Amino acid sequence: MGRHVATVDLPGPVLTAAGCAGTGRELAAYGDLSALGGFVTRTITLRPRPGGPLPRVVESPSGLLHAVGLQNPGLDRFLATELPWLVRAGARVVVSIAGETVAEHAELARRVGQSPGVAAVEVDLSEPDPLDWGLVETREPMASGLVATRIVATCRRELPRDVPVLAKVRPDPLRVLDQALALVEAGVDGLVVGHSLPALMPDGRHAGLSGPSLFPVARRCVAEVHAGLPTLPVMGCGGVATADDARAMLAAGAVAVQVGSALLADPTTAHRISAELAAEPAGGDGAADGAGVPA
Ligand SMILES: Cc1cc2nc3c(=O)[nH]c(=O)nc-3n(C[C@H](O)[C@H](O)[C@H](O)COP(=O)(O)O)c2cc1C
Repeated sequence: MGRHVATVDLPGPVLTAAGCAGTGRELAAYGDLSALGGFVTRTITLRPRPGGPLPRVVESPSGLLHAVGLQNPGLDRFLATELPWLVRAGARVVVSIAGETVAEHAELARRVGQSPGVAAVEVDLSEPDPLDWGLVETREPMASGLVATRIVATCRRELPRDVPVLAKVRPDPLRVLDQALALVEAGVDGLVVGHSLPALMPDGRHAGLSGPSLFPVARRCVAEVHAGLPTLPVMGCGGVATADDARAMLAAGAVAVQVGSALLADPTTAHRISAELAAEPAGGDGAADGAGVPA
């Protein structure tokens, strides 16, 4: 059941979402990473980041609140340790990156693109609170020349042609198509539609909200982009927790889904969904049916 994202043929339609499956070693205890469509790394920045204060994750009736602060070892250590391990484990590695400047994105893309075994790069353009974390503020990317489009154009230029650049965008159904059109013009090869929504921790700190409440919103975003740009590969991300969720996301036009916070509740979720979809007869995993945008 191959799935094409630009030049890359994913072995299946279920990937992990950035930051939700640790370094890969944690998830590998529960299933073979090569059995998934891909493994998206936590977001990697140029310099190491210690992460935010505790608690970083709080359950709520609306979903998972989190303020991890993009904890990661920085590019040098990631390339020396985490990436080679993931490649040896047989994972289709999608490296998530974020920078403090456009120039940092250029360096991240260039060095990640030169590293063997990278299937694609996912640019995190949609952190719920980018300024909290010192990242470039990428809102309002609808007009070319603005920062999100410059970041994507820069990454595209720095990466080898056979390494697709994906952009991860906010689940904002009324603006996502405009954003997608601008990013396509900038050279993006595919989109990840859906991220945590900006929220507050119970103690008032800025946080992201993830989980089931995002699902219908992310699905609507996928449908909006698919209706306007039917050939653009789109991965749906937000609240996917069951094979039925994945089927519904694929039916709305996604080429694949990413499983995020459901992995924190049950680390076997992505493997289980993947196996359920693979067991279906060909074509039964929900080819786009034009579902989604009501008249
Ligand atoms: C604990 C945690 C850490 C996350 N870290 C990242 C990250 O490093 N980079 C990123 O792009 N998204 C990150 N996310 C967002 C997820 O990748 C995903 O977009 C979001 O949670 C929505 O999907 P879900 O509802 O399936 O969790 C994180 C989410 C959680 C819950």
